[in-house]
Amino acid sequence: MKKLAVLVSGTGSLLQAMIDARLPISFVAADRPCKGLERATAASIETRLLARKDFKRDGVFDRDRYTEAMLAELQSRNIELVAMAGFMTVFSPLMFERFRGQILNTHPSLLPDFKGEQAVADALAARAKESGFTIHEATAKLDDGPILAQERVPVLPGDTVETLWERIKEKERARYPALLKELLERPS
Ligand code: GRF
Repeated sequence: MKKLAVLVSGTGSLLQAMIDARLPISFVAADRPCKGLERATAASIETRLLARKDFKRDGVFDRDRYTEAMLAELQSRNIELVAMAGFMTVFSPLMFERFRGQILNTHPSLLPDFKGEQAVADALAARAKESGFTIHEATAKLDDGPILAQERVPVLPGDTVETLWERIKEKERARYPALLKELLERPS
């Protein structure tokens, strides 16, 4: 079975769903201190905090050096499949060359609609009638790459970013672990 790593930045509720689904997670890394790292530690998974704030050159985030450092963490553990689950740092292209087709992301919109960090707010602002999530192979282009799974949810009257996002995440928590399980078991 392939070795899986999960990358987080936030509350890590998707990571928790993967833990609860008993996915064999070898390693969890984060770009900032976060609840996701705490969840991994509580589940006795090896963790690493590679803080973006420690990768500055002349006060500017050094994306290439950060990407190389994360690659070193993944490769030293022989990781073969990487699942980004609310990870908020954009890697340099090198990451996607090394893990071509083996680094996934989930995004809280029906891509190609509403790319970027404000996806849920943008869907509300556009008065979209429905939204959802997209799990896709991550590539050097943000929120792009071949789509592996997509599910819709309705946008309801009175929805806020919080209520709509939670409705989307409920679906992600079911589908992302299931899809990863399939990929882990698939012979390479
Ligand atoms: C998910 O909605 C995912 O699509 C987005 O970040 C969220 C992660 O949620 N990229 P959590 O931190 O796992 O609760």
